[in-house]
Amino acid sequence: MSFRWLWPYVRRQWSAILAVMALAALTSALAAAQPYLSKLIIDDGLIDRHFKLLIVLCVTVVALAACGFALGALNRLWYVRLSGKVLFAIREDVYAHILTLPPRFFRLRPVGDLVTRLDGDVAEIQRFSTDSVLALVNGVLLLVFSAGIMLAMSPVLTLVALGTLPLQLLVRHRARQPVADSTLEVRESRAAITDFLVETLGAAKAVQSSGAEQFERERLSRLNRGLLQRVIRQQLIGYGVGAFTSMLSHMTTAMVFIVGGWAVIHGSLTIGTLVAFTAYLARGTGSATSLMGLYTAYQRAGVSLKRVQELRAAQPMRTRGREVRVLPAHAGVICVQHLSFHYPESEHNVLDDLNLEIAAGTKLVLFGESGAGKSTLIDLLRGFAEPVSGRIELDGHGLEDYDLHSVRGRIPVLETDPALFRGTVLENLQYGNFEVPGEQVISAAKLTGVDQFVATLPNGYATVLGARGAGLSTGQRQRVAVSRALLGAPFALVLDEATSNLDAAAVRGMHELIDRIFTHQTRIVITHAPQAVPRADRVVELCAGRIIERPRACAYG
Ligand SMILES: Nc1ncnc2c1ncn2[C@@H]1O[C@H](COP(=O)(O)OP(=O)(O)OP(=O)(O)O)[C@@H](O)[C@H]1O
Ligand SMILES: [Mg+2]
Repeated sequence: MSFRWLWPYVRRQWSAILAVMALAALTSALAAAQPYLSKLIIDDGLIDRHFKLLIVLCVTVVALAACGFALGALNRLWYVRLSGKVLFAIREDVYAHILTLPPRFFRLRPVGDLVTRLDGDVAEIQRFSTDSVLALVNGVLLLVFSAGIMLAMSPVLTLVALGTLPLQLLVRHRARQPVADSTLEVRESRAAITDFLVETLGAAKAVQSSGAEQFERERLSRLNRGLLQRVIRQQLIGYGVGAFTSMLSHMTTAMVFIVGGWAVIHGSLTIGTLVAFTAYLARGTGSATSLMGLYTAYQRAGVSLKRVQELRAAQPMRTRGREVRVLPAHAGVICVQHLSFHYPESEHNVLDDLNLEIAAGTKLVLFGESGAGKSTLIDLLRGFAEPVSGRIELDGHGLEDYDLHSVRGRIPVLETDPALFRGTVLENLQYGNFEVPGEQVISAAKLTGVDQFVATLPNGYATVLGARGAGLSTGQRQRVAVSRALLGAPFALVLDEATSNLDAAAVRGMHELIDRIFTHQTRIVITHAPQAVPRADRVVELCAGRIIERPRACAYG
């Protein structure tokens, strides 16, 4: 696994990292001085009965501790700021990348899975990329300080102290794969639960309508039990490794006391030195353990890194054509020639040598049985999928010559359930046309009838809507979507079964509105009820992957 892509995020914060490391080094140096002071207190102060020196040494101990706390506080502040910056930069970049991915990607990946990766996994990576650097520096410094002083105090005892180190390293190394496996299992279980919650809570009404409350509860309970088992396994592995290494540390300390005690009893070592030595040993062992813990953190971060890498590796949709042409704000010819398409998951051609030319300003009704490929055709027109063969021309230029942002913006699709977001009505109207001034948004809203129902809302345009536009009826949300389309100066407008949830009068009202404000635009009306579409210029059927022209009068006979 490669941690290389993290480098730019860390490099950007290089000076902050250096500052934090310098502070950490200073704090470690101060901490390393304490046991030596206690040796001086015992040997030179107590045993030599030098009271003045004793006082000076004690004051020094307190002063050093106070400095250590002050430096520690500053260090923590800088560190939190630094790690926050790294975390947010990684998360924002991965999020931005996800937003470039094609619809296919989102069909295959549950939202909960994406949420867990963006949340838990990115945090794990960040923690590793910043914490590990600091822990490494801190641990190594403390270890070197402690080992250096220990060696100076007693080389023999130092050798005894290092005795079990190879065994500790071996155990950590052996535990590497089980740690990685159990971490991955826990992450996947958590993702499954997040996904379950996002899906069922997002469709709470459907669950209630189906009387599936108990069913879903049991499903959650099963997922929870699965998670618990995996967490227990992960904890047991972690605990086992920790307990074994800490047992070895205790044995080391006991050995040092036996060998050192023998030397003290025989007068070749002072008590102060033995006390200070064991204090340094405790510190050294502590930093050695945290350094070895880094190895486990590395395994865990590796698991998260792989999960985030998968997102980063997903191929973005094409957005730029060769010439980066912008689709015009007026109607133009739409020409589809010999278009064939099948989804990667299947061999079956949804569209098969399809030909269709739509003159500028036409109101075209497109019908066909469910699954015929109507929505797929529109996805291809808007560059959300790539044809297997054939050509699509808009206004005389191949789709590949266009900046697809402009194509998607200028060919808006009105769907049964338009996508609104949490926010005010005005923000929702502006969505996608962020630079359009408020007055212009409101004059568009007057044309589309949004103004009428906004007048009845408690705070008018400033009324806050719930998730997905909750608080407005389907018809009202559609009028908001029509307003957005109008502000976007469309090249063509698509209604993909937009009126299927409305009653006959509302359908007529919607068509009157659309025909009135988009008189000169091309309108493609996809419907299962072609007879209900008034004032159509042309009616075509999509059948067996091709277009069949139907006379307007007898199309539905
Ligand atoms: N992601 C996909 N992977 C595989 N097959 C798909 C995918 N999306 C759609 N299909 C298949 O492609 C065919 C066309 O689907 P499409 O959604 O375009 O139909 P449609 O004409 O819009 O139907 P409806 O009127 O029900 O909306 C269907 O047979 C469908 O099963
Ligand atoms: Mg469809």
